[in-house]
Amino acid sequence: MSAAVKKAVIPAAGFGTRMLPFTKAVPKELLPLVDKPVIQYVVEEAINSGIDEILMILSSGKEAVINHFNPAHELEARLSASGKSELLAEITSIGRGAVISYIYQEQLNGLGDAVKLAEKFAGNDPFAVLLGDTVLDSGSDLPVTGQLLDEYSHCGHSVAAVEAVPQEKLSRYGVVGGTWERPGSMRVDIMVEKPAPGTAPGEFAVASRYVFTPEIFPALRATLPGKNNEIQLTDAMKHLAASGRLNARVIDGKRYDLGSKSGFITANVDFALRRSELAGDIETELEQILQKRKNNRV
Ligand code: G1P
Repeated sequence: MSAAVKKAVIPAAGFGTRMLPFTKAVPKELLPLVDKPVIQYVVEEAINSGIDEILMILSSGKEAVINHFNPAHELEARLSASGKSELLAEITSIGRGAVISYIYQEQLNGLGDAVKLAEKFAGNDPFAVLLGDTVLDSGSDLPVTGQLLDEYSHCGHSVAAVEAVPQEKLSRYGVVGGTWERPGSMRVDIMVEKPAPGTAPGEFAVASRYVFTPEIFPALRATLPGKNNEIQLTDAMKHLAASGRLNARVIDGKRYDLGSKSGFITANVDFALRRSELAGDIETELEQILQKRKNNRV
């Protein structure tokens, strides 16, 4: 039986270049999904998976992320005085359930370099990694990080979340290949970060969530700059795969990359349509917009 995983690392550094100019002054992790910043969904996924200690890896200029998880006493007093008790309860519960600490990545040398900064935080414990710009909407009651923890309790070593991705999009991701051990569970033996078109080792791409044992740290130290001259987490994971100590779990859920323009828009439409107070208006507007486009085409 593997030890319970109680720690998570949330990398939230990076310039957010795919969402410029918005991200010039505002961290991409604070992009809203309807009315809640993406990083709050990520923290809630961790907490709902049993995590109670979180380390966020930030870069300079992202102090607003810290502010979001800090108490806002003046705002709370105002909401209380004006009797907005539901909103007050929502605001005071942000991040509740976990102790959150922060560390800065001084030079943006890639995702692998960011995770390396968590070595002291992890100590001898396994930990989850959740990328701070991506929401994974689980297809069941078990959050996607919880699904990985379930896989970890079976295999006892590191696990990556994966999803099937169409051929033409594989070059945007880390792609795995290996042997199926159980339905939806693969022993990984090859990994390629952002493979050139036609060279991917399979159709399953890494989907923003991981569980690592501390074995990842010596692997990261042995990893030289790779794609984009950055220390790639995928390259360090290859060391684990080479010794048969990496599994991939096909997620039950849908991934929304809020750090990309199309991901941001579609996620907002999808989540807004689930809100009864918003759905009616938005549906009518969307139908009109789409109808107008159709009419202009004929
Ligand atoms: C990162 C990882 C890549 C993974 C992707 C989505 O890439 O390097 O392996 O597939 O996240 O989880 P990025 O989107 O930061 O370029």
